[in-house]
Amino acid sequence: MRRLCGRLGEQQIGESVIVQGWVHNCRDHGGVIFIDLRDRSGQLQVVADPEFSETFRVAEMCRSEFVIEAHGTLRPRPEGTVNTDLPTGKIELLADTIEVLNESQALPFQMDGTEVGEPTRLKYRYLDLRRPAMQQAIRMRHQIVSSLRRYLEDREFTEIETPILTRSTPEGARDYLVPSRNSPGHFFALPQSPQLFKQLLMVSGFERYYQIARCFRDEDLRSDRQPEFTQLDMEMSFMEEPEIMGLCESMIRSLFKTVLDADLPDPFPKLSYRESMLRFGTDRPDLRIGLELTELTDVMKAVEFKVFANPANNPDGRVAALAVPGGSNITRSQIDGYTEFVAKYGAGGLAYIKINDISRGREGLQSPILKFLPDNVLTEIITRTGVQAGDVVFFGADVRTVVNDSLAALRTRIAMDLGLVDANTPWKPLWVVDFPLVEWDADQKRWHSLHHPFTAPKRECLDSLDNQPGEVLSRAYDLVLNGAEIGGGSVRIHRPELQQQVFDLLGIGPEEAGQKFGFLLESFRYGAPPHGGIAFGLDRIVAMMCGVDSIRDVIAFPKTQRASCMLTEAPGLVDHIQLNELGLRIKSTPPT
Ligand code: AMO
Ligand code: AMP
Repeated sequence: MRRLCGRLGEQQIGESVIVQGWVHNCRDHGGVIFIDLRDRSGQLQVVADPEFSETFRVAEMCRSEFVIEAHGTLRPRPEGTVNTDLPTGKIELLADTIEVLNESQALPFQMDGTEVGEPTRLKYRYLDLRRPAMQQAIRMRHQIVSSLRRYLEDREFTEIETPILTRSTPEGARDYLVPSRNSPGHFFALPQSPQLFKQLLMVSGFERYYQIARCFRDEDLRSDRQPEFTQLDMEMSFMEEPEIMGLCESMIRSLFKTVLDADLPDPFPKLSYRESMLRFGTDRPDLRIGLELTELTDVMKAVEFKVFANPANNPDGRVAALAVPGGSNITRSQIDGYTEFVAKYGAGGLAYIKINDISRGREGLQSPILKFLPDNVLTEIITRTGVQAGDVVFFGADVRTVVNDSLAALRTRIAMDLGLVDANTPWKPLWVVDFPLVEWDADQKRWHSLHHPFTAPKRECLDSLDNQPGEVLSRAYDLVLNGAEIGGGSVRIHRPELQQQVFDLLGIGPEEAGQKFGFLLESFRYGAPPHGGIAFGLDRIVAMMCGVDSIRDVIAFPKTQRASCMLTEAPGLVDHIQLNELGLRIKSTPPT
């Protein structure tokens, strides 16, 4: 019977064993060949001695990544050759036979962690996945899913699968479409999330549902976004925000404890969307960073400096500061670099004031814009930001979105550059709540949902739905961890009239609503319980827990930034017979 390399130890000395696995490396030490044999459990040193001439001959042919089977007797390693770094470092297998089960060509890259370009890794993903870091990540992913499943099963959640071939679900991205052969000209959409089905399951009376659900979104990809990704999707009936959020955070706390032995705060802090935007310029702040924005819009209304006064007097404008303790050492050329950095977010410049000596008033400050700002404004800046000698203050002045985006990004960038990220508390979760229900889209001249159209408005805001929709807050909650949005959900609308009212606000009339979501609206007429839920971005959680930057490193077979698979070369062309069956014809020049 086959034994696992990593599970053998001194207790098995003298036993005759069979092991199978990969040749991790092979060394010829003056007539004796040492093979480090690797399997899923670890490694074992296999020794081929010339005394067994046939075995030795086979060992001589072995190369890295050959798959072999070795039979032999376990013995202690001779004195002085014990490897204390290896769990099996005190023993070795003296092989009496070695059989090559499969050879390996020369590898396209080394297994030893040498840097390899991502395209090569993705093309030979099956080999990349053999590397220890990837083995660890994929196994960690399994442990995480397993811990989440156990947690939910203990609380009477039922795992239910929902369709992949379905109708469009409105999560705000472009759909992946699948043509139907049976109904030519008709298309399925792959689900952007199981949102509609999980709400229907609440109408069906399951009360507590979850699913490790694959979601598909055709959107611009980044290191934390894949076209095909996995959510831990949950929905619960007869529960409101405190209970839902309480259950979710205790699940996340238990996950981190079980898998990483890490303690997360209890409870997680909560921040309103408004406060988060004011203090951090983003709704997913990294709380490991102590830097905060300071509001200066009111202070700048009356200054003559147009760069500040114009946005300060624009109802959609904002002027804010980012004070950086100890930042006065930042050099001119670093500031130029930061100015280029914020330009990517639309900022027209990056004004700054260095605080050299606070007691000398204006004389103690250093900045190209000092001459444009009166004393009382300088005093106000110093008081509000609380700066000391040695600090620097950066300014953002523009429409609110540009100031928020650019200063939020600068806050993180500077914290990374200056080592201002708190390493003592590695995990900083927070809930962001009290989101606006809708946002005005100036380009399309219509309201659109901040989350999705099934999110319930707060009860106390219902009267404003028709007259002041921009003021209506929703019952949504996002979970943020170390600056990444790892989950989002809400209490839902469960009455057809309110759902139609929200659709109307979003410009989805009864006819369109009937066509797209008629089944959901109708289900609400047959005893729909109040319900709510959430979805966690599983890939993001796994990536953070593994300490890697890209979710591609925790997905067995990910897509590239261009949404293609280097391994299978999908998407691919199909022949005209298949297209004919589907009633499709490819235009001669595909749109670029
Ligand atoms: P949402 O769209 O916020 O909510 O998605 C939930 C979580 O999924 C993760 N996520 C992604 N991860 C990788 N690649 C992507 N392209 C991607 N897009 C989203 C994020 C996000 O927080 N139906 C609602 C949930 C609900 O209301 O219950 C939904 O899908 O971590
Ligand atoms: P200017 O008058 O354009 O030369 O700008 C004077 C200073 O203000 C420079 O330091 C610019 O970097 C800075 N600045 C210009 N536009 C902005 C802006 N929108 N936000 C913040 N600082 C700005």
